[in-house]
Amino acid sequence: MAYSDKVIDHYENPRNVGTFDKGDGSVGTGMVGAPACGDVMRLQIKVNDAGIIEDAKFKTYGCGSAIASSSLITEWVKGKSLDDALAIKNSEIAEELELPPVKIHCSILAEDAVKAAVADYRKKKEAASV
Ligand code: FES
Ligand code: FES
Repeated sequence: MAYSDKVIDHYENPRNVGTFDKGDGSVGTGMVGAPACGDVMRLQIKVNDAGIIEDAKFKTYGCGSAIASSSLITEWVKGKSLDDALAIKNSEIAEELELPPVKIHCSILAEDAVKAAVADYRKKKEAASV
């Protein structure tokens, strides 16, 4: 499988690898798995009082495309509102990284991870406000 230069760049220099404290009220954690291959991705967002994603981190146990997709999407969500982050489509990731069709599910994993992280954050906020 030939990887594009962009995939290799993110794979060799992944941005924003790491972990935030899951218990922190400003953190949303999304954990998703790809049934197609068994790969797992955990993505976390840190949201400020204005509802803007200040920071994002990920850990991915998966192929180069999955690592590159998560690295890229953590860069993209920073500075975005939650709704804008939810609007990121896996097709934009796949296009940016020039993923071949068999690797599209790797970018779907990244989109799903962001959705799961936002949902987790919103659930926490709701629980805190009742
Ligand atoms: Fe999962 Fe790529 S098949 S590592
Ligand atoms: Fe399964 Fe990439 S996430 S091959």
